[in-house]
Amino acid sequence: MVRSRIAGIGKYIPPHTVTNHDLIQYMDTSDEWIQERTGIRERHYAHRTEETTTTMSVEAARIAMERAGTRAQDIDFIVFATLSPDYYFPGCGVLLQRAMQMKEIGALDIRNQCSGFLYALSVADQFIKTGTYKNILVVGSEKHSFGLDFSTRGRNISVIFGDGAGAVVLQPTEEQEQGILSTHLHSDGESAELLAMYNPGTHANHWAARNYAAFNESEIGDMFMSHAMIDNAQNFPFMDGQSVFKKAVVKFPEVIKEALNANGLAPADLKLLIPHQANLRISQFVQQKLQLRDDQVFNNIQHYGNTTAASVPIALCEAWEQGRIQKGDLVCLAAFGSGFTWGSALLKW
Ligand code: COA
Repeated sequence: MVRSRIAGIGKYIPPHTVTNHDLIQYMDTSDEWIQERTGIRERHYAHRTEETTTTMSVEAARIAMERAGTRAQDIDFIVFATLSPDYYFPGCGVLLQRAMQMKEIGALDIRNQCSGFLYALSVADQFIKTGTYKNILVVGSEKHSFGLDFSTRGRNISVIFGDGAGAVVLQPTEEQEQGILSTHLHSDGESAELLAMYNPGTHANHWAARNYAAFNESEIGDMFMSHAMIDNAQNFPFMDGQSVFKKAVVKFPEVIKEALNANGLAPADLKLLIPHQANLRISQFVQQKLQLRDDQVFNNIQHYGNTTAASVPIALCEAWEQGRIQKGDLVCLAAFGSGFTWGSALLKW
């Protein structure tokens, strides 16, 4: 049976580091609060004008392709996950195709926020398994720093997020003991508004009756984009942090167990769990719930913050670069986020 395997992996972290102390000049917060609640010590921000979600993805993709021994003209499909695209439309997939001077291949954009990379990987995996494509570039990239509310009003969100990109090249393998064993994707739109950016959008208050705190009809109005939206900071993300936390600590272990059960495996079999870097407290909770040792869970949120669709490939890349993943190791990737959407992938490296 043909499976897909990660033939090359790369990451790009913009050089500009922003510590918790640096944020204090913009908002009422503290290093203690941020570290205690999230584990984050610093994050990186893209250059405001010289770097975009797409340019960062190009850097990550170049490294992944070099490590896979693949040239731009060999790539036959792109799957690009982001919630912070260069343009509202078209998506970043075509901008990456253009920047890397690839052939007129298909480019698919994925809008699944923190689970974006898992969704992207799963789609690419199906194309490889069916024999449709042989070299798929799967990317997660985010430039959050361009779209956060850096006033005290937005502090519960802005301290968490960082910029960066990760990419893999997926190829077929016929080796028995290698590749993606299974992927598992889920959603529950009941809580769509609990972690969301409502504007600009076409909702025209249609969902306001659901009574979410961030909906204020007089401020949002019936425009795609208005001065009032901007004046009232309605163009920034909204998050009900506690609800997100509560759901995440249930769904992460659930979807990881689903992946293990589907393959007749147990948590003890895992070499490494790479959870989406949402919050160090969430990862620690998941570790405890699954009774995993410290060396079985990889965390790097301390240095990068939450990079949404980029967090899983960045963490996977860093773990691999540190020698923590060797050929034949069982690795589980898992993510949860806005939607809510969540997913996992189990693979043998
Ligand atoms: N600095 C200092 N104080 C802050 C702050 C910040 N950056 N952000 C919020 N606060 C304040 C709040 O205003 C509130 O003050 P009050 O009690 O005077 O009203 C207090 O801290 C507690 O706020 P709360 O939102 O209840 O904190 P929390 O313990 O739930 O922690 C999160 C907030 C966001 C860290 C936490 O809910 C969380 O991590 N949730 C999951 C978020 C996540 O993972 N998102 C990504 C999903 S993929």
